[in-house]
Amino acid sequence: MIFVKFKIPLFYKFILTLLIGVIISILMIKPAFTQQPVTLKVLVQALESTQWQPIINSFHQTHPKIRLEVVKAPNNSNLVEDLYTSAYLLGDSPYDLVYMDVVWVQKFAAAGWLEDLTKKVDPQKLTDYIQGDVQGGKYQNKLYRMPFRTDVGMLYYRTDLLEKAGLKPPKTFQDLLTTSQTLQDQNLAQWGYVWQGKQYEGLAAMFTEILQGYGGFWVNPETQAIGLDAPESIEAVKFLRQTIKQGISPPGVTTYAEEETRRLFESGNTVFLRNWPYVYALASNSPIAGKYGIQPMVHLPGKQSGACLGGWGFGISKSSKHQREAWQVIQYFNQPDIQRQYFLETGYVPSRKSLFTDDTLVAKYNYLPALLQGAENAVLRPPIPQYAQVSDILQRYLSAALTGSKTPEAAMKEAARETRTLLNINE
Ligand code: GLC
Repeated sequence: MIFVKFKIPLFYKFILTLLIGVIISILMIKPAFTQQPVTLKVLVQALESTQWQPIINSFHQTHPKIRLEVVKAPNNSNLVEDLYTSAYLLGDSPYDLVYMDVVWVQKFAAAGWLEDLTKKVDPQKLTDYIQGDVQGGKYQNKLYRMPFRTDVGMLYYRTDLLEKAGLKPPKTFQDLLTTSQTLQDQNLAQWGYVWQGKQYEGLAAMFTEILQGYGGFWVNPETQAIGLDAPESIEAVKFLRQTIKQGISPPGVTTYAEEETRRLFESGNTVFLRNWPYVYALASNSPIAGKYGIQPMVHLPGKQSGACLGGWGFGISKSSKHQREAWQVIQYFNQPDIQRQYFLETGYVPSRKSLFTDDTLVAKYNYLPALLQGAENAVLRPPIPQYAQVSDILQRYLSAALTGSKTPEAAMKEAARETRTLLNINE
């Protein structure tokens, strides 16, 4: 065999090496340049999803490699919960982040749908959050939800109307009825009191407050006692029925959620409203601007005022392939400046305690320090994995009692029995 030996000149050798080097670097660097940003999905109630837009815009600017895609859900908490639940039951959830009502955590964590966030958070940093909110985010002592915004049920009242009638804001259930009736009789208002009476999660939240004001309870997670058929519960239902029977609340109240009651109160013909703090900010752009106050819920003489702890926060789906990016989103939303801005723009109360005493915020909303006190003493709805079912039972029977298809006694007896059966509790 004859071997022909080519001698490559040194110059060409140099060019060849350079070329190979360039090709290799292009091959290595290209993916990094052309890599698509990671898209994270989260399902959020329609109303709030629009309000998130400014935060999302600024997040996208500072995090060009992450896109946050918000899928719109209905506004009722339990309907959003149903959608997340079906997504998880069908297999890998398409949602990387879970924007969670405080009452979903136990069920979602027990089902294994959520990533444990305990190690990601310095326990010292958690002390800046409302403690009930942190507690509500835990399951078996592990943290599954970072609080973002807090809700506390409050009573709104019309300062101008009470002044005209020479009356003070009510303290007890009876004061609320009497004051309402007096103002209605004087034609100062069409309705005395509006509250959430529709069959949905808001009904259960509102009822928790009336129940506490009567000295009753729903489910005691420690003793497993069920208080729904106790005399205090029946009295609490009777109070709500009385407001309808006496014409203090409109008959349609049994179909109202938060937004319907807010609009009615803002239209100017109602003296009292039970709602969350977001109404305080929104009502300042309504016909009743400057004419309302906010205070803790009324109660029975000698009993405590009841405030239900609501609120929303973030979890990460265990099935998400983008755990690191999802955590970056949570950290971004939870910065004090973002929570402050969000509160100023929307009226949704932050979950960081330090913001309740922030000078700019208190100057705009002087009720904040009092609200913090309310939030710290607020009561969680039963923190148990079966909460969605327990709440559904209460909603069904309460609704039957409020619309008059069952007596309060019969309705609450059945609600208690069904709850005990569900939780395997012997009477
Ligand atoms: C608010 C509260 C939430 C509650 C819901 C009921 O969104 O933050 O905790 O479950 O109202 O309608």
